[in-house]
Amino acid sequence: MFSADVLSQTIKDKDKEMTILDIGGGYGTLSLYAYDKYKNAKFISSDFSPSMIQVLDKFINELEISNFESKVMDGQNLEQIKDSSIDYTFSTFGLIYFPDILQGMKEMFRVLKPGGKTGIASWCTDAFLPAAFQQTMNALLGNSVSNQAVLSLSDKQVFENKLKEAGFVNIEINRVQHPMEVQEISDLLKHTSINPVYQDCINALPEDKKLIFNETFMNVSNKLLCDQTRNQNGKLELPSYSYIATGQKPL
Ligand SMILES: C[S@@+](CC[C@H](N)C(=O)[O-])C[C@H]1O[C@@H](n2cnc3c(N)ncnc32)[C@H](O)[C@@H]1O
Repeated sequence: MFSADVLSQTIKDKDKEMTILDIGGGYGTLSLYAYDKYKNAKFISSDFSPSMIQVLDKFINELEISNFESKVMDGQNLEQIKDSSIDYTFSTFGLIYFPDILQGMKEMFRVLKPGGKTGIASWCTDAFLPAAFQQTMNALLGNSVSNQAVLSLSDKQVFENKLKEAGFVNIEINRVQHPMEVQEISDLLKHTSINPVYQDCINALPEDKKLIFNETFMNVSNKLLCDQTRNQNGKLELPSYSYIATGQKPL
């Protein structure tokens, strides 16, 4: 699971007291995974979508979690967070969608304490889902479609340069993978239609192309997966590669 990788690569002592801010955290994937493992941490999980935060708030109430706050915030303007107040910032597959990624990184830098660290996950180009979305959009709109936001930090050098420009030092970027398993290719739409990228693609299409998105996506996926063999559980494994970057605010 990518959240576990980002956390373990960024935080070396999981028992210390710390404040963790997750940005573009969606329904709280990272914070809900971590809150009972990092027992002395205070979590703030943020997202610019009020509906995501509403769902997260339901989880927080049901699980009766203390030391856990949620905030509706644009990651490019963390106005509710004071300068130099946070020990760790994270963004797993959230920052990659910001229109101004560098501004998002600068905001992470601003709110971190000196010596504080950030952990960010992005998709690599050879991950199955970004490739399938890209090829579907190319098939529907022609090959002129530029890189999707989902691949905005898929170049390791670009990723590192942006972190440097934002002020981070001791930058490390590692490639990790956790294949996504599906029973049948036909199950793919169940998984992808809840992915925010799916909605972004649909929104970018004219009405007549929206109607054939699913069919085109399935044709593309069938081609991409035609040589795929099944794993020992009898499932198809979709390649899922991510870059995990960590960086530090100088002391
Ligand atoms: C693919 S989801 C990832 C959610 C979660 N971090 C995870 O790992 O499952 C991307 C999230 O980024 C959020 N997002 C996109 N642009 C944002 C922005 N400018 N500020 C804050 N959140 C943003 C979306 O609302 C969405 O919840």
